[in-house]
Amino acid sequence: MNRVRPALMADAPAIARIDVETWRASYAGILPDRYLVAMSESERRRLWTHEVAQHPGDIVVALDATSRVRGFGSCGATRDTALGFAGEVFTLYVAPDHQGSGMGRDLLLALFARLQRRKLGSALVWVLRANPSRFFYERLGGKQVGHRRIPFAGSQIDAVAYGWPDLAAVLKPQARI
Ligand SMILES: CC(C)(COP(=O)(O)OP(=O)(O)OC[C@H]1O[C@@H](n2cnc3c(N)ncnc32)[C@H](O)[C@@H]1OP(=O)(O)O)[C@@H](O)C(=O)NCCC(=O)NCCS
Repeated sequence: MNRVRPALMADAPAIARIDVETWRASYAGILPDRYLVAMSESERRRLWTHEVAQHPGDIVVALDATSRVRGFGSCGATRDTALGFAGEVFTLYVAPDHQGSGMGRDLLLALFARLQRRKLGSALVWVLRANPSRFFYERLGGKQVGHRRIPFAGSQIDAVAYGWPDLAAVLKPQARI
C-alpha cells in the first residue's frame, strides 16, 4: 500500500512537475503537439498552489518509499449533474516511472473516501476516449455512463465518462476494485 495523504502547499512544485510530465507522456498524438510543448511547469505550479489553498483536502498525493510525491489526484462536487452523479474525480496522474505499482488505485480510493466524507456518495470521471488509461477505470469497476466531444485547443476531442454509483460499496473493507 502506497502512502497517500492530503496535499500541502509545499507539494505544488512536485504536483506541477508530474502534471506536465504525464500530460506530455500520455497525450502525445492525442492532443495537439503545440499545446503540449507550450505547457509550463511554473504556470501549473501557480495553479496547483491556488487549488491546494482553495480546496484543502480535495487534492491528494501519493508518496514513494522515500516520501517523494509521485502521483496526485483531485476531486469535488461534479461540474455537470446531468448524469446523476454527485462527485467527480477531476485529475489523477502517476509519474510515468511509478505507474503500475498500485499508486493509481490508492489515489482513486482516497479520492472516493474524500467524496464520501463530503457526503457525495457517487462519482464519475471524464477521460479522453483515445487515452488507454481509461481501461484502468474499467479495471477499478467504473462503468461507461456518458460521452461527449470536448472543444480543446481548437480541436474536438472525444471523451467518455466512467461512473461509480455507490462509493460506500466500493469503499467497504472487503470490496477490492
Ligand atoms: C491511469 C493511472 C492513474 C493508473 O495508475 P497506476 O498506478 O499506473 O495503476 P495501478 O498500478 O494502481 O493499477 C491498478 C490496476 O489497474 C490496472 N491498470 C492500470 N493501468 C491500466 C490500463 N491502462 N489498462 C488496463 N488496466 C490498467 C493494473 O494492471 C492494476 O490491475 P490489478 O488490480 O490486476 O493489479 C496512471 O497510469 C496514469 O497516471 N496514467 C497517465 C495519466 C492519465 O491518463 N490519467 C488519467 C487521466 S483522467
